[in-house]
Amino acid sequence: MRLAEFPRHPLTFGPSPVHPLRRLSAHLGGAQVWAKREDVASGLAYGGNKVRKLEYIVPDVLASGADTLVSIGGYQSNHTRQVAAVAAHLGLRCRLVQERWVPWDDPVNDKVGNLLLSRMMGADTRLDPAGFDIGIRDSWKDALREVEEAGGKPYPIPAGASEHPLGGLGFANWAFEVAEQERELGVVFDTIVVCTVTGSTHAGMIAGFAALEDLTGVPRRVLGIDASATLEKTRDQVERIARHTAELIELGRELRADEVQVLAGWAGEQYGIPVESTMAAIALGAELEAMITDPVYEGKSLAGLIDLVTSGEIGRDSTVLYAHLGGQQAVNAYHRLWD
Ligand SMILES: Cc1ncc(COP(=O)(O)O)c(C=O)c1O
Repeated sequence: MRLAEFPRHPLTFGPSPVHPLRRLSAHLGGAQVWAKREDVASGLAYGGNKVRKLEYIVPDVLASGADTLVSIGGYQSNHTRQVAAVAAHLGLRCRLVQERWVPWDDPVNDKVGNLLLSRMMGADTRLDPAGFDIGIRDSWKDALREVEEAGGKPYPIPAGASEHPLGGLGFANWAFEVAEQERELGVVFDTIVVCTVTGSTHAGMIAGFAALEDLTGVPRRVLGIDASATLEKTRDQVERIARHTAELIELGRELRADEVQVLAGWAGEQYGIPVESTMAAIALGAELEAMITDPVYEGKSLAGLIDLVTSGEIGRDSTVLYAHLGGQQAVNAYHRLWD
């Protein structure tokens, strides 16, 4: 297993905290639920899951001699805000394509939250009317070309840093961090629940926990909750990136079909638009635990976790870890849900 051989540029404060959600667990009356908090793990502009992926990409950025990070996401993309943060931290320029991934016609949608923060950090944010798609976009390729034509040296970071060859390593390493924290806390998580959209967070976990299982013999389920509402695309991307990451770290075997589980049922009809279960989950997290989740990502994965625990699909004797991946900055654009 080669994970430790990949260079990592530290951007986090250290391991993200793990803590029990006692009031939520008691309310659900089933499995013991804990959370691991990527939302509070980095000092760079409120952090989130992309910072961990970027820790493994930054050494390649620095080796390339690039002067501009070029990336893409929706108007309220957490990913592009984290790329802007890393660019500022490294003293690089940042060019961001912000597409209209969500038909959310609030007058402040392109002014507050993540976009505001990216602009504060000096990123060149360009709005584009194109709708949601997790794939490689022409608008992003155009941005790369334009940076070059202006005499810059761009470094391409695709949506969610997922299609980047090193995009899965950050969360493969997360699995080993969990194992270390389990030893310290005297707990074992048999089930992990994680939100999945562009796929490399979940995919990295799949590869990492597979390697850990081979080393320790402890089996676990890593359940991805789809929040893309384009299930097949996300499932394909998770599987492809998980297999690639497993190869990269030299897992030494093929991933089994049961190791790649992307669950549907909580995304609603459309990426970025919350449904009843999302709003109910956000309310429970906030009112019982003061744990803020957003209507695009974490509210949907929390809704999945709540249903899986209450239905007994995650059993009463389970200890489940909810991966909180960040995303709170977008709530400003969704203020009217609570007006
Ligand atoms: C807060 C939050 N949760 C979950 C995700 C999903 O992660 P991934 O795109 O790696 O599947 C993202 C990014 O897309 C995110 O910003």
